[in-house]
Amino acid sequence: MEKKNCLILALDVTDRENALRIANEVSEYVDSIKVGYPLVLGEGLGIVKELAELAPVIADFKVADIPNTDRLICEQVFKAGADAVITHGFTGRDSLDSCVKVAKEYGRDVYVVTEMSHPGGVEFFRPVAETIAKMAVDAGATGVVAPATRPERVRDIRKIIGNDLHIISPGVGAQGGSAADVINAGADWVIVGRSIYNSDSPADAAMKICNDMKC
Ligand code: C5P
Repeated sequence: MEKKNCLILALDVTDRENALRIANEVSEYVDSIKVGYPLVLGEGLGIVKELAELAPVIADFKVADIPNTDRLICEQVFKAGADAVITHGFTGRDSLDSCVKVAKEYGRDVYVVTEMSHPGGVEFFRPVAETIAKMAVDAGATGVVAPATRPERVRDIRKIIGNDLHIISPGVGAQGGSAADVINAGADWVIVGRSIYNSDSPADAAMKICNDMKC
């Protein structure tokens, strides 16, 4: 993904019309559009191709299964036109290897969740976040997902992964995180959903976040 604005839109709306309207309005401010279960379950995987005409799409399916099922999921995601997939890491190295292998075959990217951004993200994830980050490096992933709600954790994870892997960071705005703080802590991109798509003017909201970050 090319870094221009350091902003990824989390497009968690559930209908095509809204999704395309918002994506069109903000496309000049975002480097990528993240879609997940809400939109794909609402409208089908075909929405990925439509959005990919506006910006590269990250498929946030938090893939977490046995290697063979992970392979089948990633193949479908990349065939649908997604540029990247988000996977979990707690399922183990063999599962992650399977996703990375498919991504390399298709020339696409894999981001691994190290720690979730919501309050419950500390309960089970925090003790293993560093281990998952190390595994992401060893497996040849493109980058990791780390919480904008806890910039100090982004700093910790950056120390582990070095500068070769990217950090994409959700939790800005609605979950309380600051875009500027997490970029200063070492994130490459912030992921923002509700603060943009629930705004009366998604474009203005996206522009303001870009200005705040001065990325
Ligand atoms: O609306 P909001 O800006 O909070 O959206 C954040 C997005 O990032 C959502 O799509 C959420 O599922 C996703 N996400 C997250 N924390 C993670 C991984 C993904 O909030 N650790």
